[in-house]
Amino acid sequence: MSTSCDFERDLADAAGILAGARYAIALTGAGLSVESGIPSFRGPDGLWTRYGQPSNLSYRVFSRDPQAWWELRLRDESTPGNPTYDLKDAVDRATPNPGHTAMAELEKLVILRTVITQNVDGLHTRAGSDSVLEIHGNRNYLRCVGCGYRRPRDGYLITDLPPLCSQCGGVIKLDTVMFGEPIPRATLDACIEEVQKCDAMLLVGTSGAVNPAAQFPLMARERGAQIIEVNPEGTQLTAAAHVVLTGAAGEILPAIVLATRGRVAGSD
Ligand code: APR
Repeated sequence: MSTSCDFERDLADAAGILAGARYAIALTGAGLSVESGIPSFRGPDGLWTRYGQPSNLSYRVFSRDPQAWWELRLRDESTPGNPTYDLKDAVDRATPNPGHTAMAELEKLVILRTVITQNVDGLHTRAGSDSVLEIHGNRNYLRCVGCGYRRPRDGYLITDLPPLCSQCGGVIKLDTVMFGEPIPRATLDACIEEVQKCDAMLLVGTSGAVNPAAQFPLMARERGAQIIEVNPEGTQLTAAAHVVLTGAAGEILPAIVLATRGRVAGSD
């Protein structure tokens, strides 16, 4: 049972790591957006806990019959009682919470160089973070399977199913990466480059259940990077963390900003 002075010590340790880092990055997951009203996937009230996790064959099912996939998708988006509807409804209503804002602040302080997020809600960017790698895509975008061309979904009139790319005629899907779908190569390469550059990694709100993202903290630690975890619960990554701050992102991240800003200011 950690006490408040344990927490203060751990917070000071985390601030020291981040303020002293040459190149700190972050890896975030669904837990960061829980305080924005978006359910996580594997927690007690998680989407997969409630509805079951989609099959790893999801992408193959899409590829075999994209028209049928789109017909079902559009129906699910407008019919309550399924994970697609619940997630879309929550993300449509969501706004950045103090956790997102704190991470944008850490970028402005040149403490955080890049955020790798597994979230598809676009809230890091809305909170003001500029350097964001969306390893699982962004649900506000569409992407061509053929040429990779991405376009905003807003304003794109879906008339034919499946929608076809105006650039190459390929099939258009949601930008969100499906189970069984390869991560777009350019995005994955960019993430790996950041992981290889970092000497500190801030893990926020991820269970560490899904690869390749879950490998990033392990890869970084192997290279000597310091790992900090922010989560109310223990995870598959907790053992790899040098500092564990137990609690909600929306409370802990602003405290990290205050503790780190003091050190950065002190270094003038
Ligand atoms: N602050 C910080 N962490 C939180 C909070 C909070 N307020 N609330 C919950 N958490 C933690 C949970 O304890 C859990 O460890 O967030 C984590 C959420 O884990 P998951 O639901 O597994 O989400 P994530 O790790 O992002 O899942 C990875 O799985 O299904 C795929 O594409 C999906 O990107 C997702 C990926």
